Amino acid sequence: MENPKTTPASDQETPQFTGILAKHAILEKSPTLLMVFSLLVVSVGGLVEIAPLFWLENTIEEVEGVRPYSPLELTGRDIYVREGCYVCHSQMIRPMRDEVERYGHYSLAAESMYDHPHQWGSKRTGPDVARVGGRYSDAWHVDHLTDPQSVVPESIMPKYAFLADTIIQPTHIEALLKTHRFVGVPYTDEQIETASADFRAQADPDSDYDDMLERYPGAAVSNFDGQPELTEMDALISYLQVLGTMVDFSTFTPDASR
Ligand code: HEC
Repeated sequence: MENPKTTPASDQETPQFTGILAKHAILEKSPTLLMVFSLLVVSVGGLVEIAPLFWLENTIEEVEGVRPYSPLELTGRDIYVREGCYVCHSQMIRPMRDEVERYGHYSLAAESMYDHPHQWGSKRTGPDVARVGGRYSDAWHVDHLTDPQSVVPESIMPKYAFLADTIIQPTHIEALLKTHRFVGVPYTDEQIETASADFRAQADPDSDYDDMLERYPGAAVSNFDGQPELTEMDALISYLQVLGTMVDFSTFTPDASR
């Protein structure tokens, strides 16, 4: 019985390459040539993929309803970042059935176009909060942030009661809006001038907030934390209540041309 493993090397057929394959064999046998040509192939591929992005006006589809954050929401967003809420919460609903059924329409790129830095995250110790806006009342958020276990007994979320004791002033709000404008958020001169007034108006349902709402359509006006002082709790809840609410998904149709 013949065992192929014991066949002497000299009996093995050496493959004979012809034509283009023979030329390719030259490349394969020379490490330097192979490297030079590999680099060439990778560069062409890279150029084809990356170069068009520099010529396109905008790679993010514009979606109706998406607006820059109001001064109070933007402040709340800073508190969200400062407290590290992103360590446990993502803000990106992926286009998969289980996620869409639980959280709502998958996240659009345009919905985080004014987020600097974005809060997509990748850690979900708690649920995704990309569409938590409007899902609970302000009072629920106050109870939940003050003592999460009082509303969700099995919760492992830490308590943030101190937020309601920290009074905030719009001292640096113009600078904050200007900084965001510097990185591309289209705040107008008017929005920057009125930032301080808009900041207070949003947390005071008795104020004249119509102009603020014209500048930030759909912003929730409320005494979010239920106490007279303007606190970090107010700002954070105003931010949570706007998350995922800017786009009207009953009329939204994806732009198939992109
Ligand atoms: C140690 C992880 C952890 C951190 C940090 C954390 N959370 Fe949570 N969060 C959770 C868990 C777990 C839940 C689910 C149970 C519950 O509702 O309390 C949750 C639930 C929530 C919910 C309700 C979401 C829903 O759809 O029901 C909101 C809103 C929320 N967190 C906001 C925040 C904010 C704002 C911060 C930062 C100030 C924060 N969380 C920090 C773990 C965390």
